[in-house]
Amino acid sequence: MAYSLEENHFFGNSNPAELVETYGSPLYVYNEEIFRTRCREMADLVDRPNFKVNYSTKANSNLELLKIVHDEGLCADAMSPGEIHVLMEAGFEPGEIFYIGNNVSAEEMGFAIERDITVSVDSLSQLEMVGKTHPGARVAVRLNPGVGAGHHEKVITAGKKTKFGINLDKVDEALKIAIRYGLTIVGVNQHIGSLFMTGEAYAEAVSVVLDAARRFPHLQFVDLGGGFGIPYRKQEDQERLNLSDLGRRIRHMIGKWDDTYGREITFKIEPGRYIAAECGALLGTVYSMKDNAGTRYAGTDLGFNVLIRPELYGSHHDVEVYREGRQVTEGPAEVVNVVGNICETGDAVAKDRKLPVIQERDIVAVLDAGAYGYVMSSNYNNRLRPAEVLIDQKGNHRLIRKRETLDDLMKGFAK
Ligand code: LLP
Repeated sequence: MAYSLEENHFFGNSNPAELVETYGSPLYVYNEEIFRTRCREMADLVDRPNFKVNYSTKANSNLELLKIVHDEGLCADAMSPGEIHVLMEAGFEPGEIFYIGNNVSAEEMGFAIERDITVSVDSLSQLEMVGKTHPGARVAVRLNPGVGAGHHEKVITAGKKTKFGINLDKVDEALKIAIRYGLTIVGVNQHIGSLFMTGEAYAEAVSVVLDAARRFPHLQFVDLGGGFGIPYRKQEDQERLNLSDLGRRIRHMIGKWDDTYGREITFKIEPGRYIAAECGALLGTVYSMKDNAGTRYAGTDLGFNVLIRPELYGSHHDVEVYREGRQVTEGPAEVVNVVGNICETGDAVAKDRKLPVIQERDIVAVLDAGAYGYVMSSNYNNRLRPAEVLIDQKGNHRLIRKRETLDDLMKGFAK
C-alpha cells in the first residue's frame, strides 16, 4: 500500500479515535518529528555558510510550532504585524524576522521598522512612503523576476499577472528613490509562487534575480523566496521534489555570483508549505451517509470553515478512513464525496474518491493539512475553530491550541 499515516506511526502512541475522544472533532494533529525533519531538509538545501531559511509564518503560525522552528535555528518571514507579534512571543529576535509588506500603511511599516525588523517594500510608491516616514532606513526591495510558478493562478506571485513586486525595468527608479531619501537597499527578495514540483522555474527566477541584484551596491542578502512543493497524492506514490538537484543548481548559481559581487552576502529562502504541510493531519467525524441522485455523500464536520483549500483552489488532499482507532484498509470500497456541514454545495473536502465503505461515526483523516489549513480557517456559519494537538517526539500527545468556545464568538461586540 502507498503512504498511510497509521503505517508511518503519525499518531505516535495514540490513534485518531482516542485523540478525537480526548480533544473533540474536528481536530488538527501535528507530528513534531516530521516538522523538525522538514526544517532540517530546508536548512541543508544549499551547502554554503551564509545560507539561511526564513520559515514562512503564514503557512502555520501556531505558537508551539513557531517555537520549534526557532529551536531548529531557522529565522522567519512575516506578512503582518500579527505575524510579527506571534513570532516575537515565540522567541524570535527582531534580527531573525523579515517583514514582507504588501500594500501596507505607514503605521504598519513603522511597526516593523521601529522594532528593528528589516522590511521588504514591493512597489515604488511604498518605497517613497518609507523614504518619507523613515528617511535613512535600511530596506529590501521585492523584485518581480518575470517568471512565476504555482499550483493555481491565485498563488502565482511573479510574472505579468500579479500585483507583487517591482518589475525589473523600474530598478533604476527604485535606486533613485533610495538615494533621494537616504535609504540603504540592503536586500533583494522575490517569491515566484506557491507549490512547484520541479525546480525549473525557480532556478530560472534565481538566475534572473541574481543578475538584477548586481545593480544594488549595498546588499547584505538576497532572498530567493519559497514555493517548494510537497506530494499531495501520496496514495498514488507521487514523487517528492528533487531537493538535492535543486540545491545543487542554486549552489552553483550563487557560487558564480559570489565570485563577481566582491563581497560575501547572505542567501535566504522562504519555505512555508514544505516545512508545515506534511506534519499535519485533520481529523473529522462522519455523522451521516446519504445518496442524492446517484451520488454517495459522507457527511462530516470538515466544512470549508476548517480547511478551505479544496473549495478555494480545487486542491487535492488524500483521505484515510478510521474505525475504532484503526485505519480501514480492507473490505468493500465505493466512490464517495466527503462533504462538510456548511450551507454551500461547494463544501466538499474530497470529491469522487474511492474509499473503503464509510459508516457513521467513522473518523476521516485528511492528509498534508499542516500548511494553509488552520491559518485559513474561519468562523463561517458561526462555527468554532478546532483545537490543535502536537504528537511529540516520544509519541505523546498534547494540546497546543484550545478549541474555540461560544464565548469567543461574542468577543468584540459592543455591549
Ligand atoms: N514568501 C512569500 C512572500 C509568500 O507570499 C509565500 C506564500 C511564501 C514565502 C511561502 O510559500 P510556500 O513555500 O508556502 O509555498 N494559501 C495557498 C498558498 C498561498 C501562499 C502565499 N504566499 C494554498 O493553500 O495553497
